[in-house]
Amino acid sequence: MGASSFLAFFTFSVILVYQPFTSNANLHKTKLLRSQLLLSQNAKQDIPITKYFQVTKPIKLPKTKPCSTLVLQHDFGYTYGKPPVLANYNPPKNCPSQNFSKIVLEWKATCKGRQFDRIFGVWLGGVEIFRSCTAEPRATGIVWSVEKDITRYSSLLKNPQTLAVYLGNLVDSTYTGIYHVNVTFHFYPAELEQHLHGFNQHFGNLEFGYDSSADLVLPISRNLPLNDGQWFLVQNSTDVQLKEFTIPRNAYRAVLEMYVSFHQNDEFWYGNPPNDYIVANNLTGLAGNGPFREVLISLDGKAVGAVYPFTVIYTGGVNPLLWRPITGIGSFDLPSYDIEVTPFLGRILDGMEHKFGFGVTNALDVWYIDANLHIWLDSKSVETKGNLIEYKSPTPAVSLV
Ligand SMILES: *[C@@H]1O[C@H](CO)[C@@H](O)[C@H](O)[C@H]1NC(C)=O
Ligand SMILES: *[C@@H]1O[C@H](CO)[C@@H](O)[C@H](O)[C@H]1NC(C)=O
Ligand SMILES: *[C@@H]1O[C@H](CO)[C@@H](O)[C@H](O)[C@H]1NC(C)=O
Ligand SMILES: *[C@@H]1O[C@H](CO)[C@@H](O)[C@H](O)[C@H]1NC(C)=O
Repeated sequence: MGASSFLAFFTFSVILVYQPFTSNANLHKTKLLRSQLLLSQNAKQDIPITKYFQVTKPIKLPKTKPCSTLVLQHDFGYTYGKPPVLANYNPPKNCPSQNFSKIVLEWKATCKGRQFDRIFGVWLGGVEIFRSCTAEPRATGIVWSVEKDITRYSSLLKNPQTLAVYLGNLVDSTYTGIYHVNVTFHFYPAELEQHLHGFNQHFGNLEFGYDSSADLVLPISRNLPLNDGQWFLVQNSTDVQLKEFTIPRNAYRAVLEMYVSFHQNDEFWYGNPPNDYIVANNLTGLAGNGPFREVLISLDGKAVGAVYPFTVIYTGGVNPLLWRPITGIGSFDLPSYDIEVTPFLGRILDGMEHKFGFGVTNALDVWYIDANLHIWLDSKSVETKGNLIEYKSPTPAVSLV
């Protein structure tokens, strides 16, 4: 999308959504025409619930009618420290076609009252497919929905799975907001052959940099049952969380997709001062360790990748009034990060157990991290072979000014 069309869309939405508030605010400041005043009074009697949204690139959909399935309907009240909410997922049965070119997850929620921003995750068979943050409600009620392209998890969606949603909410006499949530999957059948040429050019599976979705997606997350999310908790700079896995012996490509979010002392890690500064200024109650973080991924103890996460600001971050109704980039749909691990495949094709590890340089309590291993299989062979030709992993040299 070009810069000018993005700007046009943005401006249009702002005007559209902000109009009612502008009029309400004007009530106290300016003399209004009688018709306008009547309008405002009517609006006061029946205040509409506010629709929140995140500005994002729209998902390009085929022009086919989707098959839609409501996979979960739940009211998240006092759910903090409780097991994730589970639901049985079954592939859609009554669709005219079973050949889907796009699959979209829709999260729709309403809330009313007062509540903090809550981080949440959605897992399918232990594979994380969505990480997000709730919107902070108003007394008059809010609604928001998020759509996420989950086509890359197609192989997973072909079979029955357990869907798990962890949204740690606390409800008391002050924080009254309960999140009423629907999770729906929309399956878009592939377009007919005659449209295929244009379709492939613009809407094909190339968006993720793949030729096609993986044949297998393995969870690199914590197993159920669990009284928390299926993510690992990385709590300090020496903490490394490990997960064992085995892959089929005929794999020819592997990509590790990592989900990450940062909380409590490291929610604003990019603004944390160095510890020397804190000590020199006698500051207390300030999170330190400086502003550099690096998520390190290891395979059997050796570094295979690093991620520098995008600085997502959650809906309660800095000043909650900044995020009503437009929320921060990534806050409703946290980005995941792909690490090409194909060069290391040769070492893990032996049918044995191997370990991925997650650590965060300079980490303070707490980082939520897990991953999905996307694997492509060679259906024409039982075993593939590979070799790592060269591997260099110099120790990092960090300097701070
Ligand atoms: C699914 O549809 C696409 C596009 O029409 C086609 O190329 C492909 O062969 C179809 N696959 C199956 C399994 O029918
Ligand atoms: C969830 O779905 C049910 C049933 O279709 C509907 O009554 C309810 O309003 C929906 N809730 C949200 C938040 O969309
Ligand atoms: C780091 O976190 C791990 C996991 O919680 C803990 O076992 C370890 O003691 C911590 N180390 C330090 C230096 O705090
Ligand atoms: C920090 O506290 C020490 C001891 O109370 C004091 O000598 C020093 O001047 C303080 N430094 C600053 C920058 O306030």
